[in-house]
Amino acid sequence: MKSVRLLTASKYIKGYNFLADCGTDHAKLPIFCVENKLVKKAFASDNKIGPIENAKKSIDKANLNDLVFPILADGLSYLHKDIDVVSVLGMGGRLIIQILENADLTFVKRLILSANSENYLLRQYLQDNSWKIEYEELIKENSKYYQLMVLSQGKMDLSELEKEFGPLIIKEKSSEFIEMINKLLMKLKYGYNKAKTEEVKIEIKKRIKLLEEVIS
Ligand SMILES: C[S@@+](CC[C@H](N)C(=O)[O-])C[C@H]1O[C@@H](n2cnc3c(N)ncnc32)[C@H](O)[C@@H]1O
Repeated sequence: MKSVRLLTASKYIKGYNFLADCGTDHAKLPIFCVENKLVKKAFASDNKIGPIENAKKSIDKANLNDLVFPILADGLSYLHKDIDVVSVLGMGGRLIIQILENADLTFVKRLILSANSENYLLRQYLQDNSWKIEYEELIKENSKYYQLMVLSQGKMDLSELEKEFGPLIIKEKSSEFIEMINKLLMKLKYGYNKAKTEEVKIEIKKRIKLLEEVIS
């Protein structure tokens, strides 16, 4: 599996029994996890026929029909008590929230999530619904930055900045994180110079100060 993002996610799936990968597309993650014995079995689910056909072909090719099960389903409606780890990767934050909101996660021990956007909203939702961040990584893939979070059931109390960038990602201050913040700062400074009103300038300046503090 070539994707650094999916490979990183797989590290946190190791040791569980039964994975449900929602929004699986080609089923790369569940196939990799079962092939490498990180889990015993996996569901590879998607709500569209095209991706499920892709998943079926990949599962056939890997000869894993008895251990990786493709399923056409909206979200995680098919969860049952044997599924102990769930991954939802590569969708917008709001969509992930909607999928979690409609699922019965009672028996899920670990959630592995990576939103393409709206990380603030996602962490707010997870905090409000008694999920706690155990691990986080900021991954750079094809020039884009992805926040990966690994959660178990529990409590957390995040600041505004932590909801946006991740408490452990901020703490680690990896080179990718510093690079990402510096890119944001460059855009903000450009916006500051172009801003037409004093009000907007004040707002941008506040944001610049905050982000400079995060990487200081
Ligand atoms: C960009 S792909 C991500 C594929 C893979 N998880 C990854 O991260 O590389 C998003 C997938 O989510 C699926 N999807 C979108 N909404 C969904 C939903 N409500 N339930 C299940 N799958 C969904 C799409 O059909 C698509 O195959």
